[in-house]
Amino acid sequence: MSAQPPQAPAATLVILGGTGDLTRRLLMPALVNLCGDGLIGDDLKIIGVGSREGDDEMLRGLLDEFVAKGPCWDKLRGCISYLPGDFTTDELFEALKGKVGDGNAAFYLATPGQFFGPIVQKLAKAGLMEESDGRFRRVLVEKPYGHDLASAHELNEQILTCVAESQVYRIDHFLGKETVQNIMVMRFANAFLEAAWNNRYIDHVQITAAETVDVGSRGSFYDATGAMRDMVPNHLFQLLAMVGMEAPNDFTADAIRTEKAKVLKAIRTPTAEEAKTEAVRGQYGAGRIGDRDVTAYTATADVASDSKTETYVALKLWVDSWRWVGVPFYLRTGKALAARDTEIVITFKRVPLALFQETQVDTLPPNRLILQIQPDEGIHLCFEVKKPGAKIDTASVSMDFAYADCFKIGGRTGYETLLYDMFMGDQTLFQRADQIEAGWAAVQPFLDAWAKGEGVMEDYAPGSAGPAAADALIARDGIQWHALGA
Ligand code: BG6
Repeated sequence: MSAQPPQAPAATLVILGGTGDLTRRLLMPALVNLCGDGLIGDDLKIIGVGSREGDDEMLRGLLDEFVAKGPCWDKLRGCISYLPGDFTTDELFEALKGKVGDGNAAFYLATPGQFFGPIVQKLAKAGLMEESDGRFRRVLVEKPYGHDLASAHELNEQILTCVAESQVYRIDHFLGKETVQNIMVMRFANAFLEAAWNNRYIDHVQITAAETVDVGSRGSFYDATGAMRDMVPNHLFQLLAMVGMEAPNDFTADAIRTEKAKVLKAIRTPTAEEAKTEAVRGQYGAGRIGDRDVTAYTATADVASDSKTETYVALKLWVDSWRWVGVPFYLRTGKALAARDTEIVITFKRVPLALFQETQVDTLPPNRLILQIQPDEGIHLCFEVKKPGAKIDTASVSMDFAYADCFKIGGRTGYETLLYDMFMGDQTLFQRADQIEAGWAAVQPFLDAWAKGEGVMEDYAPGSAGPAAADALIARDGIQWHALGA
């Protein structure tokens, strides 16, 4: 049996944007779960900072309805205080300094992205980021980290002139998902996969993050962002990096992050011409998903009625590394689609010789390994067997591992691991500056092409699998997307 991990050290967690949605829906429930696991103790102080007027009781009351009631919440509730103020003023940070005191502290930037750089500068100016006398001072930065390559680079520069990389924890919440972390374990704790994990045996890789939810109340953020910026250089590339990385020299944060950065840097930058043809974007119109009416994207509150922002994107990419050269990676993500389905499908090459011509099985389907990230987390291996009977005939079957059959899962936000690791000073699951920039660099030509109105843009019906042009993108190579929800 493995030993219980140690409790996180005493610290103050300052959440800038403390009254916001992220704090209520994800961070506070995660802290309650960590308390339940015995991984944080009574020595955690939480300070919420926000622009709204109010006192400690206001913030506690706001959080009440979002957390599981019980002894942990009772304990944490008493550790929460509130500081109202304006992020753009020095006074707020002076006041914060008084409240934080001298011990360990972490500053969680749960604010709109344009405040990230200025807030870190003000934290540093107030002396809040100084790591003296053995105390740590860390900053957690939410996504979106920049808006494109240039702004991400500028944000890295702004932050890294004030604090060291070892103090920066760039969040990508996909990395807090158990099944995403499991990709590394599956690859590096099982010898049998490694032999086939390369361009000699793998035909192509599909990475999908499909959602049934629409943009809803996030119109203002989403219209300025779009599916590509919201999901691809961050979440989907993290999945790509886990699949594509080489084995690290050891399991330390920098060894792992170096290998992941190498894969991201190996994604071939599309030429201006390829940027028009190797991606498809789409926008959902009005319709229904099941018994739910979906308003057209352009009729969503805070979205421009002539918006060209994409709610779906599909791309074909190449990874120019020794292991992956020649293996296309197809990525897609979108909102208001037929099913919630986040998965990686690895399709292997066909057998080199069809031995069974006499029995109409000369076109054997390729083997597939499906890593199901959500929902119904699991791993499925699809392969061929002989159908019982006198003649040789084959059938496709699947060997299925469902997490829920073997382990207790669920009830987690994904932020538990991330917060705990940050308190423990483990940066493995956080993005390093070079990873962020490599991700943006790979998608920048597509963003540039779209800004000029180039490339394919097509509407799709809510509840569908996305625009028909995305099917055509992959059909060009004689392939089909793995069916959503299958
Ligand atoms: C967020 C995006 O980062 O990830 C959202 O901003 C998206 O648009 C969400 O819905 C998806 O995360 P999950 O964990 O629900 O798959």
